[in-house]
Amino acid sequence: MASNVGVDNLTAEVRESFSGTPDKRLQYMLDSLTTHLHAFVREVSPSIDEWEKAIDFLTRTGKTCTDLRQEFILLSDVLGVSMLVETINGVETPEATDSTVLGPFHMVESPARDLGEDISPESEGPRCVVSGRVVSVDGSPVPGAKIDIWQADTHGFYDVQQPGVQSIGNGRALLTADQQGRFNFRSVVPMYYPIPTDGPVGELLAATKRHPYRPAHIHFLVSALGFRELTTHIFIGGSDYIDSDAVFAVKNSLVKNFAETDDAATAAQYGVQNPFRHGRFDIVLHPEF
Ligand code: BEZ
Ligand code: FE
Repeated sequence: MASNVGVDNLTAEVRESFSGTPDKRLQYMLDSLTTHLHAFVREVSPSIDEWEKAIDFLTRTGKTCTDLRQEFILLSDVLGVSMLVETINGVETPEATDSTVLGPFHMVESPARDLGEDISPESEGPRCVVSGRVVSVDGSPVPGAKIDIWQADTHGFYDVQQPGVQSIGNGRALLTADQQGRFNFRSVVPMYYPIPTDGPVGELLAATKRHPYRPAHIHFLVSALGFRELTTHIFIGGSDYIDSDAVFAVKNSLVKNFAETDDAATAAQYGVQNPFRHGRFDIVLHPEF
């Protein structure tokens, strides 16, 4: 492999080129990026052909992005960077519910629905009920919290992936917690599913013999005046791929046991057939700093 003769001062020169950046945070990031990127290139010592392939991969990743598809976020997800950023930003609020990745399917507005409504009225399959409370770190309720929910169906498809099969809004809801911070909804039990594999990220997974699957989950984006917004999911306990999520987004605290509940009175109260599966999710928000 070629030596680094003639480039000994290159890293220092590039770092110095950013020294006049007025925004000091930007300067710090560019300085660190230069240091680590140059160290990476020195370590792997790519051939020109490998470098061109890398540029081509990133170019095609950009070209795959549309208003409805974000291949760069997907790349960040499969490299574990999205999860790293989420986790770093959550360390300041350890008492709050754990966050996890947003993902690319929060792309349409969720329909406002009443508490208790079925959020997947067009989907066939075993029903579940999800219920819980939104509270602050001191346990006091957060009345009127907005809970935006989206999920795949029993076959692992989001509404936006099946035009003509599912209407936009199936598997989605914008709920408002009651005066005690309580919420509940009915739905179909979601299925595990593959992340999109028909682009450059799919090539990366195939080349590395990685599977593209995410364990079954339901997304939540929770907001309330005076509180930090929370982006998270709950995972269906026992789902396939719970130990090998393609985007590394599982946190143990977010795995919920959707226990089969055989209780006719409770089923009637929630408006589902008995027996049904019941997931409980109490959401702790952190006050804004
Ligand atoms: C999702 O859960 O919707 C998702 C997250 C990351 C990558 C692809 C999909
Ligand atoms: Fe998802």
